[in-house]
Amino acid sequence: MGEKILLTPGPTMLPDRVRRAMESQPAFHRSDEFYKIFSGFNENLKRIFKTNQPVMTLTSSGTGGLEALVSNVFSRGDKALGITVGEFGDRFIEIAKSYGVEVDELRYEWGTAARPDDIEGKLRSNSYKAILITHNETSTGVVNDIKTIAEICHRYNALILVDAVSSLGGLELDMDGWGLDGVVTCSQKCLMGPPGLAFVALSDRAWEATKKSDLPHFYFDLNKAKKGVEKINPDTPYTPAVSTIMAVSEGLNMLDERLDVVYNRQMIIGNAVRKAVDTLGLRIFARENYSDCITGIYLPDGISSKDIIGYMYKEGVVIASGQGRYKENVIRLGHMGYCTKRMLIKCFDALEDALTALGFKLEAGLSIETLDKELGELN
Ligand SMILES: Cc1ncc(COP(=O)(O)O)c(C=O)c1O
Repeated sequence: MGEKILLTPGPTMLPDRVRRAMESQPAFHRSDEFYKIFSGFNENLKRIFKTNQPVMTLTSSGTGGLEALVSNVFSRGDKALGITVGEFGDRFIEIAKSYGVEVDELRYEWGTAARPDDIEGKLRSNSYKAILITHNETSTGVVNDIKTIAEICHRYNALILVDAVSSLGGLELDMDGWGLDGVVTCSQKCLMGPPGLAFVALSDRAWEATKKSDLPHFYFDLNKAKKGVEKINPDTPYTPAVSTIMAVSEGLNMLDERLDVVYNRQMIIGNAVRKAVDTLGLRIFARENYSDCITGIYLPDGISSKDIIGYMYKEGVVIASGQGRYKENVIRLGHMGYCTKRMLIKCFDALEDALTALGFKLEAGLSIETLDKELGELN
């Protein structure tokens, strides 16, 4: 394989600036060099989370961030409403259950989004400490309407804890403006960094809940992490993944000051990808609330994701299969973070080649033409 184009739902491609940062010697995490990097890093995170609360950096993947949220906010015997529209909604629920939280579930068919009215119905007739919900469901490419759902939670005094692992920094999410109580993301998706860091922020109400929490946590103690982040010379309680912080710091610096520019770019990419898929004569997995960060695509009968992925890999393009029972007949393209017109064109070129080689009839070059037109001057 020559140049590798990574269009998976994470990890995503690393810009050169980020890659170069990973080549330097690590900063000592109790030094001015580190404090300076970490200060700017924390300010950038607050800007991207759209919050005045401290954002805690944990050395773990996104799942660790979700676990930290659960184990710090809940107490024994608490009840939660778990809303799931796919694999990652399921995982959030599993994490809460594994800590003994009693979770009622609202499950939706894969490809569809959570219905705010159903959530209101549940909150009206039950008392939940919190709801658990995924913003961008990466297994299906569906986005939940977090803003509306948050308004409902406020009316019923339930905390809203959001898995924004594959959306924060790509899709609009306004932690303070929408009144979200817990938000988790990680380094390897929209934030253009390598894997290895999770980021967690809590509202005042959620911080209050942490004071009462009697669930076990040691490494993932968010109050300890908060103390570190709030110092004039901010640090972490234990040795963080310093090299990863240095790299992600470059990614965060690159995320435009004006997040609406980023969201708009993401919207143009999402639309272009969906139109290109249409021209191939293939069906998009999501049925509503399409994600602009990731697109699932049904494959034609008789063609397996394994064959398509294998073929595209040889052409230098890495994509992912569907998840759960859709592993065989669905592929997923990640188009978040550092994703350019050139990468997308290379991806669809390889996809057209793979489909043709596997016997599917399509009009060669049409998806590329569509991308070219829809993406215009975007680079
Ligand atoms: C929505 C969502 N939640 C949670 C996770 C888990 O993150 P990680 O693999 O970094 O632990 C992912 C990973 O793809 C995700 O997309």
